[in-house]
Amino acid sequence: MAKKVKKVASDFRYDTGKARVPWAAVGEVVRGQDVMNMVKFLIPAGDGKQTAYAQQLKKVEKEIDALADLGGFAGKLSLGNNVEALEKKCCSFLKAKHSLFLTNCTAGFEIAHQFAGLKPGDEVIAPALTFIATIAYPLSIGAKVVLADVDPMTHNIDPADVKRKITSKTKVIIPVHIGGYPADMAPIMALANKHNITVLEDGAHSFGASYKGKMVGTIGHFGAFSFHEVKNLTSLGEGGILCTNSAKFGKQFPQARFLGLNMAKKIPLWLYDVDPLETVDGGFTAPGNHSATEIQALCLINQMSRLKGIIAKRKKAAQYLNKRLGKVDGIILPPGDSKDIKSAYHLYQLIVAPDRIGGDIQDLKKKLDARGIVQIPHFAPLYKFNIMRKLGYDTAAMEASCPVAEDSFRHRFTHLPLYDFSTEQLDYMAQAIIDSVEEIKAGR
Ligand SMILES: Cc1ncc(COP(=O)(O)O)c(C=O)c1O
Repeated sequence: MAKKVKKVASDFRYDTGKARVPWAAVGEVVRGQDVMNMVKFLIPAGDGKQTAYAQQLKKVEKEIDALADLGGFAGKLSLGNNVEALEKKCCSFLKAKHSLFLTNCTAGFEIAHQFAGLKPGDEVIAPALTFIATIAYPLSIGAKVVLADVDPMTHNIDPADVKRKITSKTKVIIPVHIGGYPADMAPIMALANKHNITVLEDGAHSFGASYKGKMVGTIGHFGAFSFHEVKNLTSLGEGGILCTNSAKFGKQFPQARFLGLNMAKKIPLWLYDVDPLETVDGGFTAPGNHSATEIQALCLINQMSRLKGIIAKRKKAAQYLNKRLGKVDGIILPPGDSKDIKSAYHLYQLIVAPDRIGGDIQDLKKKLDARGIVQIPHFAPLYKFNIMRKLGYDTAAMEASCPVAEDSFRHRFTHLPLYDFSTEQLDYMAQAIIDSVEEIKAGR
């Protein structure tokens, strides 16, 4: 029989006056069975442990049923108290004035570009080496994407090339902190301030990294982070945070997330209004719906409390690889932490000097593949993708204007994961790289 439910604190956004109408009246409540299915999905049976698993599951099921009998009503499932708590936690962790929990990082980019007043024909500068998500919104509205070359050591955007590529039409610059290592923000901000350009930091890989004493994502006008399942932290598979220190945009964050409605305002007797977003130049634009759920927020709040330990473990793995690989002539170690730079250690950059090993990264990748070493090769220069050619970009000219990105991708570098490896796994990985390089040197 369905449980009786009453209004709880997280219903507060809907002021239904004296009517005793609970939020649950417009949606099904969560039951023990729903929770059990989530438990089974999140923690499936291990190999060869089916019987013990089934027995344990029965016990858990009984306990959850008992809890469901004793328990109350979850309240709002979308944009409630947990989302609010997560945003507060992010503001305090990042030292940002405003943060907004979203479906994903790409949604954050969309909102930031909307605030920047991006229109078809305007220009956006992004690094050649990144994921397509970085430029998805400008491409989708017919803005012009200009790809800047990268630094040969960090593979982050090269400020000198940004300077060369700024025009009177440049509206947004998007530095990407690739692999968790901070891009060189100071010269980018100097250029942006000089030319009145909005800076959107793509922090998809870099939640928790810092640059010259500031958390990355808070140096530009906007910063967006990803909590997709392959990142250092995840809010159950998808999720993003957009942050800003701008009062003008921060106070519009709630309506930017949800169709122009500010859910933080009390809605008297369901009479509400819908507002557009006011852009950097005083124009208006219509927002979409990028709302995320309470369960996702709750998960991320928990995971955030483990972030320090997660980054420390990844850093240790990177240092171990550096120690082993540093002894090999022809392997170039990636830059690490310094007084000014603290990486989030999302990925490890494996860089080689082809003239010293007598082969290139493609030769090495084949050998690593044969030895079962996972690589993360998907940060190809964006001009290589069909989407650019089919949207009418002169991809040959783009390639010619990004010689470092092209050379690095073809011959010099790939990313390796820095997941929570065991000592044996790390040892295997390091040895496989060393053996493969020695084979290439010996012409085998
Ligand atoms: C560099 C970069 N930017 C942006 C994104 C997009 O993140 P999300 O999937 O949360 O939208 C990703 C995702 O992997 C990424 O690697």
